[in-house]
Amino acid sequence: MINVALPKGRLGEKVYELLCQIGYRCEEYSKDSRKLIFSDERGEVSYFWVKPSDVAVYVELGAADIGVAGKDILEEYCPDVYELADLKMGKCSMCVAALGDFKDDLSSPLRVATKFVHTAEKYYAEMGRDIEVIKLNGSIELAPVLGISDVIVDIVETGTTLKENNLKVVSKISDISARLIANKSSYKFKNDGILRICEKLKKAVESSD
Ligand code: PRP
Repeated sequence: MINVALPKGRLGEKVYELLCQIGYRCEEYSKDSRKLIFSDERGEVSYFWVKPSDVAVYVELGAADIGVAGKDILEEYCPDVYELADLKMGKCSMCVAALGDFKDDLSSPLRVATKFVHTAEKYYAEMGRDIEVIKLNGSIELAPVLGISDVIVDIVETGTTLKENNLKVVSKISDISARLIANKSSYKFKNDGILRICEKLKKAVESSD
C-alpha cells in the first residue's frame, strides 16, 4: 500500500484525475465527501487530503510515502524529502512586486512583506541587499498599498491580483510548479511501488503537456 498526500483544492483534484487515468482510482472517493482518507479496493493506494502547505510535512514524517507539493513550499521549508518529478501543473512564478512608481532607496533596508520569509531572505542575501521582513499570512498585496512595505515577495499566477491593486512585477525569483515528492525511507523500502506510480505519472504528464 502506497500512502499518497494530496493537496486539497483545484491542483489536488487535477492530480487525482491523473492518478485515476493511470489506474489508481478510488471508487469510494467523492469530491463532496468530508472524509479525508480514501483507499482503493485493491489495497494499492490510500489518499489523504491535506492543506497544500502541509503535504511536505506528512511526507517528511513518513505518514505519507509520496505527495504533491508546490515548488514554492519546497523552496521555503526545504523538507528532507526526495523530489521525483515535475508534474507541470499549478504553474506560476515567485516574484517581487511593488507599486507602479516604486524606486528602491538603497540608503535604508527594503521592507519586504511576504509569507515566504526564507525565500525572500535568501533572494536578497544573494544580492547583498539589506531587508526588513514583514511576515503576513495572506492578502500580501495589501502591504505596499497601505504603506507597510516597499515590496512583496509572492506567487503570481495570472497577474490579476497585482493589476487590480496597481502593483507590478519588479523581478522574477523562480518558476513554480507542482512536484511529486517522496519520503526518503519509503523510497528505499517501497521502491517498486513508488517508482511504478512515478513513471506512470511522468508519462501521463508528458502526453498531456
Ligand atoms: C495567491 C497569491 C496571490 C494570488 C496570485 O493568493 O498569494 O495573492 O494568488 O494569483 P493571480 O496572479 O492569478 O492573481 P491566494 O489566492 O493563495 O490567497 P492568499 O491571499 O491567502 O495568499
